[in-house]
Amino acid sequence: MAPGGSTRRLPADLDGIADAARLLRAGDLVAFPTETVYGLGADATDPAAVARIFAAKARPRFNPLIAHLADVASAQAEGAFDAQAQRLAAAFWPGPLTLVVPATTRTSVCDLARAGLDSVALRVPGSALARDLLAAVGRPVAGPSANRSGRVSPTSAAHVLADLSGRIAAVLDGGEASVGVESTVVACLGGPPRLLRPGGITREALRAVLGLELAGPEGADSNRPVGPGLLASHYAPRARVRLDASIIAPGEAVLLFGAARPAGLDRARAVIDLSPRGDPVEAAARLFSGLRDLDASGAAVIAVVPIPSTGLGEAIRDRLERAAAPR
Ligand code: TXA
Ligand code: MG
Repeated sequence: MAPGGSTRRLPADLDGIADAARLLRAGDLVAFPTETVYGLGADATDPAAVARIFAAKARPRFNPLIAHLADVASAQAEGAFDAQAQRLAAAFWPGPLTLVVPATTRTSVCDLARAGLDSVALRVPGSALARDLLAAVGRPVAGPSANRSGRVSPTSAAHVLADLSGRIAAVLDGGEASVGVESTVVACLGGPPRLLRPGGITREALRAVLGLELAGPEGADSNRPVGPGLLASHYAPRARVRLDASIIAPGEAVLLFGAARPAGLDRARAVIDLSPRGDPVEAAARLFSGLRDLDASGAAVIAVVPIPSTGLGEAIRDRLERAAAPR
């Protein structure tokens, strides 16, 4: 689309899918829903289309993108799957898992989408709407989260438009994302698989399938990225984020989880409870919209009560630590 043009909101029906697929095949940018977060889609085989993603997000070019595929067979055609990768694909696809595997001569995902690496990141999303779109496109679709680089990831079409309206051709509106945090990224590059990013598939679930504990990820306090895109500061709201808060200062916004009630809560400017019953699955689904809503309260600080790092809590803590990292 021409800069300054308007972004279309496409319905989640056959016409909407057909329009979105046509735009993607023509090299335009279309944000699309997945079960984790909304992706900013472009034809992954077309370097010019992929370049538009980096421009729209204002994203550093060294950051490689995930290619999304409609089904397991299409994904396997894009890279070399060892036994562990096969096992993970069989167990968790379609779903919130991304596999980084060696690229091959058959890989159609372009160099720019892979940031020049000899590996490729692949995902078959759990969202049926996403897979219908991918099947209609018939090519891998590159898709980082559909937010400006370094900002909070979008879990609704409204979030996408708040960040990218006028910068992308369309958004396919599939309602709220059900998982709410990005996919788990696992590298299978020979040797034992490594966890590059915690996400929608828990460490415990990976261990159960592989029969071994995964190494990684390296700490979010490091500015030396493991996955090239894993910068310490990321997912940042405008407000400063303060973790493991037990006392609230007047005027702070507060993110609650479970039964914890920090002192001074009555002086908070705004309060959002991620999960009153302390369920990390429910909390993950609300995390990014909660951060956006607290940011909108105008508070200078978002204080977060302690959140245990078991199950999806690991991904939640990872995102919050990045949001709290120095910028
Ligand atoms: O849930 C998700 O994963 C969402 C939805 C839209 O699918 N996508 C997403 O994309 O979170 P993005 O671009 O924000 O994150 C991709 C992550 C980055 O941390 C990147 O460094 C890593 O995957 N990655 C991609 N290709 C890689 C590669 N070849 N080697 C290592 N890490 C890679
Ligand atoms: Mg992102």
